Amino acid sequence: MKEIKKIGIFCSGGDSPGMNACIRAIVKTCQKHRITPIGIYRGYEGLIEGDFKVLKNEHIRNILGLGGTILKTARSKRFLISEVRKQAYEQIQKHQIDALIAIGGDGTAKGALLFSQEYPDLSIVACPGTIDNDLFGTDYTIGFDTAINTTMQAIDKIRDTAHSHDRLFFIEVMGRDAGLIALYTGIATGAEAILIPETLTNIDELVQIVQHRWQTQKTSCIVVVAEGDDAGGAFEVAKKVTERFNQYDTRISVLGHIQRGGSPTCTDRINASLLGVHAVKALLQGQKNVMLGILKNEISYTPFEKAIKEQKSKYLQLLETFQYLM
Ligand code: F6P
Repeated sequence: MKEIKKIGIFCSGGDSPGMNACIRAIVKTCQKHRITPIGIYRGYEGLIEGDFKVLKNEHIRNILGLGGTILKTARSKRFLISEVRKQAYEQIQKHQIDALIAIGGDGTAKGALLFSQEYPDLSIVACPGTIDNDLFGTDYTIGFDTAINTTMQAIDKIRDTAHSHDRLFFIEVMGRDAGLIALYTGIATGAEAILIPETLTNIDELVQIVQHRWQTQKTSCIVVVAEGDDAGGAFEVAKKVTERFNQYDTRISVLGHIQRGGSPTCTDRINASLLGVHAVKALLQGQKNVMLGILKNEISYTPFEKAIKEQKSKYLQLLETFQYLM
């Protein structure tokens, strides 16, 4: 096995709270093993352009509680082009980088998979960093805990005003094509309905729920809509419902990117640190092409291919629980 002297670290895709804690842990673990940590800026874009900087203590000081990512991030479309990946490979060779740690979601893992298939001598591992928690092989992704707490607090605040005015609110939350943010926060805030992309939405049933709430309690009604739901976003769902039942004074709120910012929670700081340390250890043990994760409180290693493609069923138990709480 080739000795590892330099590890390149980058974040890719949407940022998530806790990425900095992960970067810090990687840098510190590298230092313990006399490995030079190289920060790669703006994800795959920086990899292509050679936007690299040796990370020293001054770069990681006081970043544990900082949201976002000090390495910046990007969604690189051109990394999907083989010629462009060749440029990235040449940068790695030129700077004598022996291994890479990517922090990001499924787009990041897809990029890493393509790269590793083309250049099998490369050692790449990934830490799951996305607020969506939509990767297979891990119960947890960096930033999810902070995002659900931010979202929960926002919905709690909306409930206050909704309750005072006896209003119906449609609240759209993030998650792309995954509904875990909606499910967690909907359950945590006592939402009357939660719409997620993993299941087909029945507008008639939703109208019945809203109608029943109005007829029996005449008080606030909260519908949490995952942005990727098949019935549409909050505006479309609100339109479909109010066309059939319009007694409620209705408002719509799209929570948007506040869900992705802010200081990471304790859980995100700890888990991100755990994943960062183990990512370096995994490379030193000769692992490659795997995404680390946390499964039943243990560090897990899932091949990139599986992490992206396998069916995710994390929502099932929660969905069943919600049926009892409605
Ligand atoms: O993947 C994280 C995420 O925040 C999704 O929940 C959301 O759909 C998407 O990123 C938004 O991406 P962007 O900030 O590029 O619009």
